[in-house]
Amino acid sequence: MEIVRRQQLKEKPAKGTQLGFGHYFTDYMFTMKYTAEQGWHDAKVEPNEPKSFDLATSIFHYAQGIFEGMKAFRQPDGTIAVFRPDENWARMNRSATRMCIPNFPAELAEEGLETLLKLDADWIPTDPGTALYIRPTIVVTRVMLGVHASTEYLFFIILSPVGSYYAHGLEPTKLIVEDKYTRATIGGTGEAKCLGNYAASMKAGEEAEEKGFDQVLWLDANEKKYVEEVGSMNMFFVIGGEVVTPALVGSILPGITRKSCLQVLRDKGIPVTERRISIDEVLAAQKDGSLDEAFGTGTAAVISPVGLIRYKDVDYTIGGGKMGPITKMLYDTITGIQYGTAPDPYGWRKIVR
Ligand code: COI
Repeated sequence: MEIVRRQQLKEKPAKGTQLGFGHYFTDYMFTMKYTAEQGWHDAKVEPNEPKSFDLATSIFHYAQGIFEGMKAFRQPDGTIAVFRPDENWARMNRSATRMCIPNFPAELAEEGLETLLKLDADWIPTDPGTALYIRPTIVVTRVMLGVHASTEYLFFIILSPVGSYYAHGLEPTKLIVEDKYTRATIGGTGEAKCLGNYAASMKAGEEAEEKGFDQVLWLDANEKKYVEEVGSMNMFFVIGGEVVTPALVGSILPGITRKSCLQVLRDKGIPVTERRISIDEVLAAQKDGSLDEAFGTGTAAVISPVGLIRYKDVDYTIGGGKMGPITKMLYDTITGIQYGTAPDPYGWRKIVR
C-alpha cells in the first residue's frame, strides 16, 4: 500500500480533553478511486488535507453516497483492536448495491484501514469511554448533473478520536416519538447507510432538541404505529423479562451492535425476540409496570439507556430514569470485548498488527 507522508504532524487533543463526537481528525486518511475502466484503484494512505471538487460534482446535488461507522480501541497490552470490521465492510457493500455504487474489495479496504491505524496509532484516546471513530465513506465524484448512476467514485476513510456521542454521557437519554415526519419507508433506503437518510432526519431532530430531547424515536411510515429506530441507534425494550427489538423489515438499519447484543442475550439464555412492536404496546407496558428497561445500540452510541419517552405530549419514565440490569450487562459485555478487558469468546476483536 502506497503511503504519502506528512511534513508535519498535527497537534493532538491533550489527554483529558472532552472530545465530544467528530470534532478532531487525525493526520492521515485512506483513499481509493473507482472508474469504469480501472475499477477500484490508486489505493493509498495520504495526509488528511482538504480536497477540492467542482461544484457540479454529482455528490453535491443528488447525495449518491454511503458511509459506515466503526471504532478502534487501545488494548491493555498496547495493541489496537477494531470491533467486527468485516460486518461493516459487508454492510457497506450492501448499501453500495442499493445506491448503484460499485462494490469494493473488502480486503483492500481492510488493508487500507490497518495501514492507516498504524500510522495514526498515537491518536487513539485512552481516557475511559473514548475510542478512535472510523468513518469509511464512498461518494460519487463525476461532474455531471444528469440523474444517473455514475462511473466515478471516491472511497475514503477518515479517523476521529471521540468521547461519548451524547453530551450527557451514559445518563439515560430522552426520546420523543415522531408522529409527523418519516425517516424511511419499506422499499426506500432506510436499511442502507446512505447520506440522505441522515439529512432527512434533521428537521425532526432539530424540533426534538428545541423541546429538550436527545433524539427522535421513529415510527413506521405507513401506519405511524410500529417502533422503528432512533436514526443513530437501534432500539430494545425489556418487557416482563423478555427483550424485544423491532424486526429488520427493510426500513431499519441492520446495526452491528444490535446484532452483537442479540447474540449475547441468546447465549445468556435471556428471552429475546425480533418482531414488530407498536408504540402503544411499549407504553401500555410502561403503564402496567412491565416495561423494565429501554435502550439503544449503535457504534457511536454504544449501549445507551433510555430514561424517558414522550408520545403525544405525555412523558413516560422508564426504569426510574436509571440504567437497568440488562442494559448494564450488555454495556459491560460489549465494551469489555471492545476495550480488551474481558474475554472475546466470539472473535469480535480484530487486532491490528
Ligand atoms: C454510528 O453509530 O457509527 C453512526 O453512523 C450513527 C451516527 C453517528 C450517524
